Parts: sequence; structure tokens; C-alpha cells
Amino acid sequence: MGAAMFDNLTALPPDAIIAMMQQAKLDTRAHKIDLGVGVYKDGSGAVPIMRAVKTAEDIILGEEMSKSYVGTTGRVEFRRLMLDMILGDQFDAPRIASSQAAGGSGALRLGAELIKSAAPDATVWVSDPTWANHIPLIGSAGLLMDKYPYYNRDTLGVEFDAMLEHLDRHAKPGDVVLLHGCCHNPTGADFSEDQWDRLVPFLVERKLTPFVDLAYFGLGRGLGEDAYGLRLVFERAPEALVAASCSKNFGLYKERVGLIAVLCRDEATARIAQTQFGAIQRKLISMPPDHGAQVVERILGSGELKRIWLDELTEMRGRMRNLRVLLSEALDVQGGAHIARAVADQNGMFSTLPVSPAQAEALRNDHAIYITNSGRINIAGANASNIPNLASALLDVLS
Ligand SMILES: Cc1ncc(COP(=O)(O)O)c(C=O)c1O
Repeated sequence: MGAAMFDNLTALPPDAIIAMMQQAKLDTRAHKIDLGVGVYKDGSGAVPIMRAVKTAEDIILGEEMSKSYVGTTGRVEFRRLMLDMILGDQFDAPRIASSQAAGGSGALRLGAELIKSAAPDATVWVSDPTWANHIPLIGSAGLLMDKYPYYNRDTLGVEFDAMLEHLDRHAKPGDVVLLHGCCHNPTGADFSEDQWDRLVPFLVERKLTPFVDLAYFGLGRGLGEDAYGLRLVFERAPEALVAASCSKNFGLYKERVGLIAVLCRDEATARIAQTQFGAIQRKLISMPPDHGAQVVERILGSGELKRIWLDELTEMRGRMRNLRVLLSEALDVQGGAHIARAVADQNGMFSTLPVSPAQAEALRNDHAIYITNSGRINIAGANASNIPNLASALLDVLS
């Protein structure tokens, strides 16, 4: 008898961040700080369910009469409310096709598949560095991918001119440029409004299609500020995509809820793209999961629940901003002015610090501070009382 089919499989290494999360969990040192996995934590280290979400779930539990399929592109009202929220009231709805998706990841994949159907030879350009999962999620749709310079590990800021120069020289008309709408993962370094003002006309002129990944809307500087780049893209570019996640800003991680939307040159094309989204979802997972989308629809569709959610979101954003200020002050006092400035300027959960893999390992082993080998920290993993310890440990390994 020949070998069994699955004998051909090779074992894959565990995901580095998940492995580190396990290691942190097993660490018995009371002063440990887990700055690894990208979920929002409150001051007690819990990943809370938002009050608005619980209330919406209670209502749904009482009212829901059927678990029948929702259709391949999901709820019409969820999509409308999400587009209203992220794009404001200035967008050209008839030129937009959209679909409910299995999280921001599902949205990115639907977008990548749509690009593959429309322009199979397009290259998708991603920032260096970018969220590690962008590459398999988009690349496995069969698209070519390449990197543009983004984060300068010396200045700890965006290398904007180098980015434009690189795209100018190497990207071809019809290529796609993936941009983080706000709270860049893994660096926290975002474009300024001035930079968005220069970037969008550049992309339009070079016939490069912007694809905005909006995974942290509301967790950076504020709703309007976090949507600045996306709204400019949808106002000025003839064609564009956005993949929005509700994992972080609604705390709905495991429910898998997100939205993909594409802006087309005209209404007829948008109607065609809408049929494509349905067919693509059908071949991948048939129908999107619905519970999370139902919750989001309830919240955004109710004045009272939306107000509660916005208050909670403001509190989450404020907590992370406050931690950034505290860490920045502690680093500054202890002689780390350069990093201090970057931590305060950056947005959202993440910063990428100038820490080598060996220094990250020393932080884990000697200080019980869990940060990835790339130097990325999730600031929400800290709290006001352990920030001084975090600052001194960082400066210790860097010295
Ligand atoms: C930049 C970025 N995009 C998209 C996602 C997708 O998130 P999800 O699929 O959990 O909604 C994440 C999650 O970490 C992310 O960091």
C-alpha cells in the first residue's frame, strides 16, 4: 500500500505572536506585561465586551425569529450604516458596491479577489513593514505583491518622500496601493493630513488605485481624524477600495464582521461589481457570518446605542492616548527623548520600537515584558502603574 495522502504534509512553525501569547500566559512573574497580540485591553488586562454590544445582543436574542441565510453580500442596512459612518455624508453611493465580510480579513480577501478578476496582472503594493497577514491574505488571491518604503527605524516616522519616489519609479499604471487608513499596524506611524493631501493626487495622477485598510477606525485621534485619508481617497480618486473591520472598534473580534466597498467609475460598473462580490463570497465561504453584523447594525441604527458605543470608543481611545503620554514622559525623564517623541506622535494600539530581536528576547526573559522580535508593542497591554517599569526596562535593553 502506498503512503497515505496526508503523509505529504509538512509541519508549519506556530504563529510567532500566538506562541508568545502562550508563553506570556504561562509566565508566573507577577510584574509581567504582555504587549503582544493586537486586541484592546482595559486597565485590568481584560478584553471587554462593550456595553453597547451586550445591549444590542440582548435585544437581538429576544427579537430574532430566524437563522436563515442572509445572502452572499450580507445585510443592506449594515452596509449602508457602515458606509455612512466611515465615509461621512459626502460620498457617491450609486458608484459604490459593497459586501458584508468575515472580519477585516475577509474584506481584504474579497477586495483582493475583485482586483484579481478585474486586473489579474496588477501588483498590490504594501508598506514596509505592514500587518504580516496582508501578504498571505492578498497574495493567495493570486496577485503579485511588492513593498514600498514606509517606516524609518531611525526617525521612527513615515518616509514619505522615499515612498512617493519608489512608487513613482516602480509602480505601473493600474497597480494597487494598500494604505492603512489610520493607526498603522505595526508601526503606529500615520500620514499627516498634509501627506494625505499630497498622496491622493499623486496616486490619481499615476493611475494607481488606493485600497484603504481601515482596521482601527475610531481608535486613533477621533472619528473625523481617522477617516481623513479614506474620505479624501473616496472624494478624489476615480476608483478605490476600502476594507473596514469591526473587530477592534466594536470589540467583536471572534464574531468576524467587516465590510468591503469599492468605488467604481460609474453606476453601471458598481452594479457589475456588486454581482462580483456576491459570486466571490459564494465561492469562498458562501455567506458571511451574521451575528456581529446584526449587532453593529443595531448599534449604528439606534441613536441611544450609538451614543453609548461612541462614549465607550472615546474611552478606549483616551486610555491608549493617555498610556502613550505616560510612556513618552517616562522615557523622556529617563533619557529616551527620541523614542519618547515617536511614542507620543504615533496612533492606535501599536508602535514599533527600535529594539533588535536579541533585545526583545532580553525584555521577555529578564523583564517579563512580552514584545515581538520586530519591536512591535501593543500599548493597550500596559497600564498606568507598570509604565515606569516598562520605560526603564526598554532603556535598559537599549543601552
Ligand atoms: C492592519 C489590519 N488589517 C486588518 C485586520 C483584520 O482584522 P479582523 O480580520 O480580525 O477583522 C487587522 C487585525 O489585526 C489589522 O491589524
